[in-house]
Amino acid sequence: MHRPFLRHTALALLLACGLARAAERPAFGVIADIQYGDKEGSVSRDYRGSLERLDRCVDTLNGQRLAFVIQLGDLIDGYPTNRPASEADLDRALGRLSRLKAPIRHVVGNHCLNAGAHALTRKLGLERFFYTFTEPAAPGWRFVVLDGNDAGYGVISEAQLAWFGETLARAQQAGERVLCFCHFPLLKTAAEHHRMAKPEAVLALLDAHPCVAGWFAGHEHTGGYARQRHVHHLTLRGLVEAPGSTAFARFELADDRILETGFGNEPSRELFLGGAAAPRTRRLSFENGRVWPDDRSVHINAHGGGLLHHDGAYYWYGEHKIAGKAGNVAHVGVQVYRSHDLYNWTNEGVALAVSEDPASDIAKTCVLERPKVLHNAQTGKFVMWFHLELKGQGYRAARSGVAVADRPAGPFTFLRSLRPNAGVWPRNVTAEQQALTPADLDRLKGLTFSGGPNEETPKHNLLARDFAGGQMARDMTLFQDDDGKAYHIYSSEENSTLHIALLSDDYLSHAGPYVRVFENRWHEAPALCKRGGRYYLLASGCTGWAPNAARAAVAPSIWGPWTELGNPCVGVNPLNRLGPEKTFGAQSTFILPVAGRPDAAIALFDLWRPDNAIDGRYVWLPLRFTDEGFTVVWRDTWDLGVFDAPQP
Ligand code: GAL
Repeated sequence: MHRPFLRHTALALLLACGLARAAERPAFGVIADIQYGDKEGSVSRDYRGSLERLDRCVDTLNGQRLAFVIQLGDLIDGYPTNRPASEADLDRALGRLSRLKAPIRHVVGNHCLNAGAHALTRKLGLERFFYTFTEPAAPGWRFVVLDGNDAGYGVISEAQLAWFGETLARAQQAGERVLCFCHFPLLKTAAEHHRMAKPEAVLALLDAHPCVAGWFAGHEHTGGYARQRHVHHLTLRGLVEAPGSTAFARFELADDRILETGFGNEPSRELFLGGAAAPRTRRLSFENGRVWPDDRSVHINAHGGGLLHHDGAYYWYGEHKIAGKAGNVAHVGVQVYRSHDLYNWTNEGVALAVSEDPASDIAKTCVLERPKVLHNAQTGKFVMWFHLELKGQGYRAARSGVAVADRPAGPFTFLRSLRPNAGVWPRNVTAEQQALTPADLDRLKGLTFSGGPNEETPKHNLLARDFAGGQMARDMTLFQDDDGKAYHIYSSEENSTLHIALLSDDYLSHAGPYVRVFENRWHEAPALCKRGGRYYLLASGCTGWAPNAARAAVAPSIWGPWTELGNPCVGVNPLNRLGPEKTFGAQSTFILPVAGRPDAAIALFDLWRPDNAIDGRYVWLPLRFTDEGFTVVWRDTWDLGVFDAPQP
């Protein structure tokens, strides 16, 4: 027999065994907050449409081998003063669920109670609303369903608590692993706004029983996740708040982990078992606008960020912010994180520290924004540029800072700050701009400008005003072209006009050539990418921390001519109900080409929280090229697999 044949047979056998084992793993489906109602809803809370989404969810779940499917409560929205109408909605929803091939298990939520306990007991086939079950297909696992309302809204009775304690004790003794299902989440970290009223006693029981692996809840439609000690607290996204999408999950039980495969808005994750010492949960998708925990379970602190791909790893540099309004100035510097998959990030610490020396340009409490890093192949150095405002001077200085490091995570050494292109006219300067007299100059120096869109600024020759001392530079990005040349793109001339400037070969200074683009359009937050020889720009308007409509443009050369395109954004962010007119509540910061995937790019945005800067959130969305330009369609949750699917 040929050796290769043997090898192939052995491989095929191994693969077959592996697949068989994977196929045998017990799995179940979970749907939360279907909240059906034959009534009008709102933009994001779509009661009537829940039925159609439920149909799609049932179709998908019927394609899988599942031990059971559990609905986590609020099957209907109901009518507090109309039991018959609530019952009618319940019947309709149950009718759709009856198409499920797998057995259905029910959790009762607060809205379900509108149909009355008697009808619920009968129609859901339950003797009482808290119970426990096992499944032959899932040996060693015990499932416990809790009633979060038996002593009032979100309150568990003493009797149920006693039963829960006994159930857990027995499971512990029998060596079972336990998953709990309840309509109400317990932890603020797993559900920001809506939770069980008094979760302490329940949490104490979970703490005391290492057999508990998970607490699965609904109620908070925007979902959430946290791990506390040995327990994974999952809050599933609500189907009622997934118009245009869906939200449900399949959970597969392996020996060492639970694999969550989310559909629609529901994320995917690997939840490791084995108690507090187990590895951290691994994210398998992006979740927009939520807390994004790093390897230490702390929300990523890298705002106005930029990414670098180097030696197989991604580095995410951003503004480190502290809590409160104070966080809008730099107390720490630039933070850096590292990742191999873009979903899970390791905190690598401070890449560039602000200085304790009050005389330094980057003295603590300066404004240090939008840091971007490039690797210079010629010098081998990592070069960082950022927008710098000197300590205590508000946004007057409008400077650029540059720092350099030998390694991607730093530490970076601050070199200097400057106003770009002092004594250099742009390539597209006009004779009129160059003809400023000393008297005009004196007059101009006495004027002040708002730094925002207004009628006054365009009347003045700010380019010439700043010719000698260098051009103003605020919001900025860097762009590295295929030929290794790098460009600094910054909002200049009181934010009215963008400049695109070539950097020197070592990237440490400006080479001289630059152009003025989008004159008097007040573009901020620029981000650039290139595809098929064309250059694409994503930017915002100029309204400070408040969101505005995104802007897009395309050019055959980085020097232009740049043609403005329409707003590339599509869709609505259900967390704040903001759509394209406000860029989902966010502002652009970077475009990341995905390594190894031609044509795949991610548009990165910040959802600023200027009142509590550290809590700023991130929005990462697939950027899809079209014949004319590109689109950025809202997705609550997504993974890189979207780039494999044909464009919708
Ligand atoms: C925004 C800008 C931010 C920050 C902020 C300050 O327009 O994009 O980076 O500078 O203004 O108000």
